[in-house]
Amino acid sequence: MAVLEVEMSLYEAILARRSVRSYSTQKLDKETIPSLLEAAIRAPTAMHGEPWAFVIIQDKKILKELSDQAKTMLMTSTYSDQQQPSVKFFEQLINQDFNIFYNAGTLILICSNTNLTASEADCWLAAENLILAACAMGLGTCIIGCASPILNLAEVKTKLGISSEFTVVAPIIVGYPSDTPVRSSRKHPRVLANIQTN
Ligand SMILES: Cc1cc2nc3c(=O)[nH]c(=O)nc-3n(C[C@H](O)[C@H](O)[C@H](O)COP(=O)(O)O)c2cc1C
Repeated sequence: MAVLEVEMSLYEAILARRSVRSYSTQKLDKETIPSLLEAAIRAPTAMHGEPWAFVIIQDKKILKELSDQAKTMLMTSTYSDQQQPSVKFFEQLINQDFNIFYNAGTLILICSNTNLTASEADCWLAAENLILAACAMGLGTCIIGCASPILNLAEVKTKLGISSEFTVVAPIIVGYPSDTPVRSSRKHPRVLANIQTN
C-alpha cells in the first residue's frame, strides 16, 4: 500500500491538531482511507487483541439520515439525564440545517469487539493514531461522540453491517477543512507528584 507523504513531524501534528467542524466538498483520494486505517491499527493493543473493526460511510444521504435520527434521539427525554445536551448544543439540534457530522464527506466508525480485554481503550488509541495521521496529511477530523447512541442501536448496526459482538466506540469525521479553526486552549499539565531518586 502506498503511504501518503507526511508533511509534519509527529510532534508538529500533535500540536497542530484541532477539531474541524467545517469541510470543503473535496473528496478524499483513493489511498487516504487505507493509509488512515494502517495508522490506526499500529496502536498499542492489550494482550495483542486487535479488537478494532472499521466502517467507512461516504454516502451523504445515509450521513444525513443518521444525523437527523441522532438529533431526534438527543432531544428526547428517553436519552439518559447524564447525557442531556447543553443549552448551546440544544440550540444547534433544533436547527433543521444543522448536521451533527458538519457535512463532512466521510465518517469512519472505529468499532470494538467487546469480548476482548481493554478493547475500548485500544480503539481510542487507534482513534488518536488515525486523527494525528490525518492531521499530518492536511486533513481535518472531529470525533462525533453524540452519534454513538444512535449508531449503537441494533437496527442501525444491522443496516450498517455491524455484527452484535461489535460496539461503535469512536465515530470520526474526516475531510479537507474549509477554514482553519482556532486552536483550542488547554490548562497547564497538572503534576500531582514528581518522584525522583535522592
Ligand atoms: C470522546 C469525544 C467526543 C466528542 N464528541 C463531539 C461531538 O459529538 N461533537 C463535536 O462537535 N465535537 C466532539 N468532540 C470534540 C471536542 O469537542 C473537542 O475535542 C474539544 O472541544 C477540544 O477541542 P480540540 O479537539 O479542537 O482541541 C468530542 C471529543 C471527544 C474526545
